[in-house]
Amino acid sequence: MKAYVLQGGFGLDRLSEADRAVPTPGQGEVLIRMKAVSLNARDIGVIDGFYKPVLEGPLVPVSDGVGVIAAAGGNAGKFRIGERVSAIFTQSWKSGEATRENWASTLGSPLQGLLAEYVVLPEEGLVRVPEHLTDVEAATLPCAGVTAWHAIAEEGKAKAGDTVVVQGTGGVSLFALQFAKLQGARVIVTSSSDSKLNRAKALGADYGINYKDTPEWDKAVLELTQGAGADHIVDLGGGATLNRSVSALKVGGQISMVGLLSGASAELEIVPAILRRAKLQAINVGSRSMFENMNAAIEYHRLRPVIDSVYPFSQAVEALAHLAKGSYFGKICIQF
Ligand SMILES: NC(=O)c1ccc[n+]([C@@H]2O[C@H](COP(=O)([O-])OP(=O)(O)OC[C@H]3O[C@@H](n4cnc5c(N)ncnc54)[C@H](OP(=O)(O)O)[C@@H]3O)[C@@H](O)[C@H]2O)c1
Repeated sequence: MKAYVLQGGFGLDRLSEADRAVPTPGQGEVLIRMKAVSLNARDIGVIDGFYKPVLEGPLVPVSDGVGVIAAAGGNAGKFRIGERVSAIFTQSWKSGEATRENWASTLGSPLQGLLAEYVVLPEEGLVRVPEHLTDVEAATLPCAGVTAWHAIAEEGKAKAGDTVVVQGTGGVSLFALQFAKLQGARVIVTSSSDSKLNRAKALGADYGINYKDTPEWDKAVLELTQGAGADHIVDLGGGATLNRSVSALKVGGQISMVGLLSGASAELEIVPAILRRAKLQAINVGSRSMFENMNAAIEYHRLRPVIDSVYPFSQAVEALAHLAKGSYFGKICIQF
């Protein structure tokens, strides 16, 4: 079988296609024939050595994908042969609060990822995916989808009448927009591009703010909320956006700290945060039970993820280069 392997150093030029033996499932494991994967900002961070600067051995990257069960090992009977499944991002986090041990079980680093024609995983690390989704659509859910669901529904508990701000039009942000609309919230999207803001409005966004033309976008949020501020802000910018998120927040509101697109550290202004009784809730993707809850909502509402582009498996490096360039709206996917 073919797999993409990062070896000999970091960078996209160190990622190449390799021949490998089809793995054999052990006790409690299944063999999955991969059908599609989707790419996340994190995958480039892994390939560039940003998240873990030491490459301990050849690594198959990419955390998110969908496939069908091709064979089952001993004691594995949860899924039928041929059934479509997706792997959960943090393989050992089933429900409740995560543990430090769970951190070591994320796919695509430190665990081997899904950019391979066949993978073996424990059946406990898999979920069924909504039937109405195509393989490519279903492949977008594990990281971007679950993170947004965790922020909006599980921790944020967004409800009808709330105002939710999502930053940018990347994968997490568009899912957060779609989930916030499911809950009946009013959604403000920020973006560097007016045309992307128009596309976000077509998906249901109520207002758009161009953060390039309006760098003080927090003031624009206050204007749109008659000075009250937003109930919930999904902070994806990190370094350069966190203090503005506090500034744009309603008293008692919540900021979901998710991203670091503009920097991995921030000097928090404490007084504005105290005045707003800001709830700063960091989000780390989510558990299997959150994934299942999200799938039930997606299925019930027949929600469809936003796809930017689909590449064949033979062009996986081109797909990742597209991600690295940053000019997309929705998810970049690879079909096998
Ligand atoms: N904590 C977690 O569990 C978790 C899970 C998933 C992702 N993340 C993190 O969340 C972030 C987003 O991930 P993603 O996969 O959704 O990324 P993505 O799809 O690559 O998102 C890129 C988009 O983010 C927007 N953006 C860039 N800089 C921005 C800024 N300074 N302010 C506002 N928006 C900005 C841009 O939107 P426009 O083009 O519209 O301007 C850009 O197109 C990343 O930092 C990722 O590492 C964290």
